[in-house]
Amino acid sequence: MQTLIPGGDLAGREPLRRFGSELRSRREEQGMSLRKLARLVAYSPGWLSRIENAAAAPTIKLAELCDRALLAGGELIALARDAEPAPVTHSVLPAQLPRPVSPFVGRTAEFRTLDRIHSRASLDGRGLTVAIDGPPGVGKTALVTGWAGAASHAFGDGVLYEDLQGYSSRGAPLDPAAVLKAFLFALGVSERVIPEGIQQRSAMFRTLVSDRRMLVVLDNAADSHQVAPLLPGAGTCSVVVTSRRRMSGIAARSGAFRIALEPMSPGESLELLALVVGRERVRAEIEGARALVLRCAGLPLALRAAAERLTASRHRSLGGLAQELAGPGDADARLDLLTGGDGLTVRESFEASYHQLDAESSRAFRLLGQMPGEVVGTADAAALLRRPKAQTRRLLEVLIGVNLLAEVGPDQYLMDGPLALFAEGRAVAEGPFSVRLAQEASG
Ligand SMILES: Nc1ncnc2c1ncn2[C@@H]1O[C@H](COP(=O)(O)OP(=O)(O)OP(=O)(O)O)[C@@H](O)[C@H]1O
Ligand SMILES: [Mg+2]
Repeated sequence: MQTLIPGGDLAGREPLRRFGSELRSRREEQGMSLRKLARLVAYSPGWLSRIENAAAAPTIKLAELCDRALLAGGELIALARDAEPAPVTHSVLPAQLPRPVSPFVGRTAEFRTLDRIHSRASLDGRGLTVAIDGPPGVGKTALVTGWAGAASHAFGDGVLYEDLQGYSSRGAPLDPAAVLKAFLFALGVSERVIPEGIQQRSAMFRTLVSDRRMLVVLDNAADSHQVAPLLPGAGTCSVVVTSRRRMSGIAARSGAFRIALEPMSPGESLELLALVVGRERVRAEIEGARALVLRCAGLPLALRAAAERLTASRHRSLGGLAQELAGPGDADARLDLLTGGDGLTVRESFEASYHQLDAESSRAFRLLGQMPGEVVGTADAAALLRRPKAQTRRLLEVLIGVNLLAEVGPDQYLMDGPLALFAEGRAVAEGPFSVRLAQEASG
């Protein structure tokens, strides 16, 4: 038995070579083109060519299909067994998706987009690569777990999932080397043969998943550096990455399709309230419900927390909660009215992003929160921040890049709802104009 680490020892490649040359000679004996064989076995010609050239490992499934198509009488299957990677000590079908959000509302356009990209990629014999970004609590995890759960039949070789904790109140972002170790383990690789180096782990991971119909969900990524070693190669394995940050690095490197997830529409927001609080209660207090939706600015995290607060007490009215959120009063205390069932407040969720900002950007964030619900342009923002226009533009870009500010049109920026309330709370606590002294000195 041999390992299949790319660039591994020559002896390790010998079974791959034997399989590849047997496949080629049987195909050529039958006068069959790569393209025709690819059609018969539903793999891409490019992939079969890599296998014929011993640049990739055949799975038993692929060997069975080729064996049947070329009437090889089991010869190809036997050779593929010889070429099986030794590290895989047992065969497992990972199914790591967390429980989907329930009740789940809306997102039909995003489901359709994901379906479309997925079927287009499948037709080309490739896996899909999608990067979803959006503000804290907008529903990225809910979307990907909902869609992947519904589409799981398309991923016959299983689903790998990891919360990379890129923006988490629970701790630092996960080390990709540790994530690779967990993935390899989940794929059946015995711990004792998992290599030490991150590059070797990454190569082994890519080898093992390259021609599987598998989905890898990399949830809550910090940035593209964290994600890069975890990306499958160019085979049939699919990957969906979610992050609060726009992942332009991944898009540039692997041609990922980007979905910028936006807050829910007022209709979807009302539906979410109705499903948790009860349709009757929402109907009886529709104006209060609309006011609450406005306060939550379509952010499902906030809507769900508000709904849970309302279900905890039948005497609290929807309009009353909307009014409490509107103030006046201490911004942090108002925001803490929104506490989810898991005890995590909306404020704590935002804090994970806020703490990653440098001093100038967090100052800009606090100041922009002084104009909640108002669309501002660069010139207005420059006056508010008391910074030159070019610097202001850069600061706005930083905030947009981590989805702490919405870009709602050309040179139109908006901070609204719970996020603006959070900014107000930070301004009260830290002073809106303050910048850490060290930063002032260096700037
Ligand atoms: N489509 C939806 N239908 C119903 N509830 C939803 C939906 N999307 C999100 N939610 C609710 O909002 C909460 C937050 O959503 P989710 O965790 O998916 O946000 P996120 O964008 O992944 O946040 P983070 O940036 O913190 O990772 C969920 O726990 C759920 O209660
Ligand atoms: Mg998430």
